[in-house]
Amino acid sequence: MEGHMITAGISARGVEMTFRVRGSDNTVLQSLDLEVQAGSFVTLLGPSGCGKSTLLKILGGILEPTAGSVRIGDEAAADAVKNREIGLVLQRPALMPWKSARENVKLLRSIARKDHKNDGPAADAALEMVGLSHAADRLPEQLSGGMAQRVSIARALAMEPTLLLMDEPFGALDAITRDEMNYRLAEIWQRTGKTIVFVTHSITEAVFLSDVVHVMAANPGRVIESLEIDLPRPRDKRVFDDAQFIEYTNHLRDQLAPMPGKVA
Ligand SMILES: Nc1ncnc2c1ncn2[C@@H]1O[C@H](COP(=O)(O)OP(=O)(O)OP(=O)(O)O)[C@@H](O)[C@H]1O
Ligand SMILES: [Mg+2]
Repeated sequence: MEGHMITAGISARGVEMTFRVRGSDNTVLQSLDLEVQAGSFVTLLGPSGCGKSTLLKILGGILEPTAGSVRIGDEAAADAVKNREIGLVLQRPALMPWKSARENVKLLRSIARKDHKNDGPAADAALEMVGLSHAADRLPEQLSGGMAQRVSIARALAMEPTLLLMDEPFGALDAITRDEMNYRLAEIWQRTGKTIVFVTHSITEAVFLSDVVHVMAANPGRVIESLEIDLPRPRDKRVFDDAQFIEYTNHLRDQLAPMPGKVA
């Protein structure tokens, strides 16, 4: 069972990423350190373009940093990917247009795993987790943008990864579905004990979900603060009224966009 899997933490040290575009270097990440405890839920919060997606791809082993090291548990990130321990939900869902939601969810798992007995049940369970059992037989073109995004989350969950990397997975959802997905994800995380790294623009989403919010700044992208969120779990919508919750969100808002004229 998933719950008994060994979860992996992350240790990223001195990460640098420089892209070469039309002959000039663009250093997107510099001197970036990130420690993620095994089994914790952390978010990366920061302005557009600060390098969140780039960092997530590096953690997921699909981009090689120009400098620095990334360890997932006791492996290099690229090895952890090979060993199928990492599930990646990208900012834009890429689904096979001719396959149903269920087949899309099953496909990656059936490529990645040797034992196929559980592919069907794992796909169904993952679709249930994201609230899409009723749409399992639909083609991607018959899904809304938000539903397609949830299929891509189910696809990652069906892999039963120990580390789940999610890039703004709820960005395309309406506010009500987004809240519902936040509750569901918190519940999935508590039940399965995965390590989750979650990218978002939303301050309330970050505080609601996280053990630690890592605040990033741009030019070059780096972590400027790691804020521990000390709120009891399980959390439900009452937490939004909690004085401590409001204090965290106000603090993060100041970090991201300091008010003009505010005395520090
Ligand atoms: N493959 C690439 N080649 C060149 N530049 C890139 C590449 N990928 C990203 N960049 C640049 O790196 C910077 C950071 O991009 P990234 O997508 O990581 O930002 P982000 O924080 O995820 O932004 P957003 O919140 O808008 O998704 C941007 O300036 C982008 O143009
Ligand atoms: Mg991004």
